[in-house]
Amino acid sequence: MADYDIIGNIAIIKSEGKTNSQKLRQARELLKRPFIKTVLEKSTDIKGRLRTFKTKYVAGIKTLETIQSENNCRFKLNVETCYFSPRQGNDRKLIASKIKKKDSVLVMFSGIGAYPIVIYKTKKPNHITAIEISRECNKYAKENLKINKIPEDKMTLIQGDVKKKMPKSKFDVIMMARPNLKTTFLEQALQVSKKNTKIFYHGFCHQDDLNKLKRELLDEANELKRKIKITKTAKAGDIAPYKYRYRVEIKVLN
Ligand SMILES: C[S@@+](CC[C@H](N)C(=O)[O-])C[C@H]1O[C@@H](n2cnc3c(N)ncnc32)[C@H](O)[C@@H]1O
Repeated sequence: MADYDIIGNIAIIKSEGKTNSQKLRQARELLKRPFIKTVLEKSTDIKGRLRTFKTKYVAGIKTLETIQSENNCRFKLNVETCYFSPRQGNDRKLIASKIKKKDSVLVMFSGIGAYPIVIYKTKKPNHITAIEISRECNKYAKENLKINKIPEDKMTLIQGDVKKKMPKSKFDVIMMARPNLKTTFLEQALQVSKKNTKIFYHGFCHQDDLNKLKRELLDEANELKRKIKITKTAKAGDIAPYKYRYRVEIKVLN
């Protein structure tokens, strides 16, 4: 794993084990790349339900806001107040490739709108609903719909907790870009699922625990008197040594 991330023209370096002069040296090297204008250091882990982290300024222009280009889309965001992972670009592309034009799609945990916007721009499905708890992320998501020229009648953004504000309709496809927290939120996804709904679920675990993660999802569905089939699992990013974000593809059977 690289020891920095680049979001738009901001580089975010890891600080563990580095002296100030080592950080400055790394920042100077990064600033030689023409598109990098700011270097920050990540000063805390990703925390809480909003999945945000704190930064400290290291070098370059002092800003926390940037525009990331990805999958022919542009996303404006504040790197400290909004969760955004540039490492999920391929996952967004892959999910989008599996959507059909006739589908009505729900993106749970939609952040600044990256998944719904990539899905819309790639496949132009019937309609997309996106739900996200953070007001700040939703502010950017609204702006990002305009930046990416998404027609207003094609996407609905809901600001709120998926446990309280889920829409009433049923969806063909549900993308669960879940936070890495204990709650599975499977119950909320199943509430708006019908027979043959496809769910893309992000689960986080050590590679040795993937079967346990799958078993827990099957058991939870069973307790809710719903039948699901896990049709595929694949790594969708690494989060720590031997620990991965897994994309679990689920078909709802009843
Ligand atoms: C892993 S991030 C994914 C963000 C976005 N999909 C992306 O990839 O950029 C998880 C998101 O879930 C949101 N979130 C956490 N708990 C939530 C809840 N109960 N209801 C709605 N959104 C929630 C967080 O604010 C965060 O933006």
